[in-house]
Amino acid sequence: MPIIRGLLVFDPLSHLLSPMPALGVNIDHVATVRQARRTNEPDPAWAAMLSQLGGADCITLHLREDRRHIQDRDLHVMRETVTVKLNLELACEPDVLDLACRLRPDQVTLVPERREEITTEGGLDVAGQRDRVARAIDLLRGAGISVSLFLDPIAEQIEAADGLGVDAIELHTGRYAHATGKAAQQAEELLTLATVGAQVRQLGMTLHAGHGLTYHNVRPVAALEGMAELNIGHSIVARALMVGFQQAVREMKQLVT
Ligand code: PXP
Repeated sequence: MPIIRGLLVFDPLSHLLSPMPALGVNIDHVATVRQARRTNEPDPAWAAMLSQLGGADCITLHLREDRRHIQDRDLHVMRETVTVKLNLELACEPDVLDLACRLRPDQVTLVPERREEITTEGGLDVAGQRDRVARAIDLLRGAGISVSLFLDPIAEQIEAADGLGVDAIELHTGRYAHATGKAAQQAEELLTLATVGAQVRQLGMTLHAGHGLTYHNVRPVAALEGMAELNIGHSIVARALMVGFQQAVREMKQLVT
């Protein structure tokens, strides 16, 4: 029973109904530094270990087709060493899907990939490629892997994902993140994330979000109703260079919970 305190309604059970989002730490850019010299340091598996000690609930890595940062070896090592949820970002391509089915991360997030992009620039076009995405989902689910789709916060894309058997949708927060310094535009993008996020949950899928989130802009996204997982990479790795991984993750964790 909610307790009325002044004008605020305080429900002591509310935290049970809307749990705090899990923090997924994307360690790709540790591998970016290593690949700059094609050497063996810094090791993303070490960063994953420190992230866990700092409170990460999930370790995320993107095995790109061009292997520009994470290598197959990293996935093998982290499958053995990561004790929290392991989330692997992949394109709908046969070779990486096959590898995922063999190594069985806890979750695969399907993303689009373009070789010339600096990072994943848009969401997956599930509305335009429903059959191809459906085949990838069936393959992964058949291997017992939970599947998330990285989608732009557009109602048509969420509708297209309905019925494919995905467990979660990760909403692309890039437009919200890039509106930094433009308060009205940022508020509008946040409203879009809230509206589309509600649609995701109404359709019975779990709500995730990520891309471009930083120590400065993460809080309103973390506070969205039903937000279950945030995946954050660049900002955490950048801070980790200055303060260390454990500290950087701990600071982000405090902001999102
Ligand atoms: N989520 C997905 C699906 C991504 O592709 C990325 C970038 O690799 C992220 C989250 C993390 O984005 P950022 O590095 O901007 O925090």
